[in-house]
Amino acid sequence: MQGYLNEERRGAVLRSLRTDEGTLSRDYLAAARTVLRELVAMPDLVQRLPLERKPAGYTRNLLAGNDAVSVWAIVWAQGATTCIHDHHCSCCFGVVSGTVTETWYRAIDATRAVPTEEQERQAGYVACMLPSGPNIHRMRNLGAGDAISIHIYGFDHEAHASSIETQYTAVGG
Ligand SMILES: [Fe+2]
Repeated sequence: MQGYLNEERRGAVLRSLRTDEGTLSRDYLAAARTVLRELVAMPDLVQRLPLERKPAGYTRNLLAGNDAVSVWAIVWAQGATTCIHDHHCSCCFGVVSGTVTETWYRAIDATRAVPTEEQERQAGYVACMLPSGPNIHRMRNLGAGDAISIHIYGFDHEAHASSIETQYTAVGG
């Protein structure tokens, strides 16, 4: 695990995302955006990493992590899609290459949601969302080739299997 970035870069990323006691969430989010902007500005570095790939699916590759945050590179094959989900933690992401289509939803009950908006996130795009929401979305690669994105989640990768809190079923739209 954590073999994708060299130790120096991994240490720098985790120091930037320091979550010491007293670190305000706005400071954390600003740091996460800075780290993401730096990484999406180096697509060659990310694309050279020996990231796992899966036909028609997506893979999560842990780049760095500690007991508070984890940084992943996600490779989206053509046609890959997540479920409709929200997060139990903060979620910041940036697109390194390709285009990721993000659809937003509004929950109508505990398990069903209606689509409200859809946007194409191009290479260079960076965004953050908090678990307080609204943060129900689905991400897909509708493009012709792979897409790669970097995700920074406010969770301990050894304590949680993923960042997903609830999966929803789409209604209408
Ligand atoms: Fe998500």
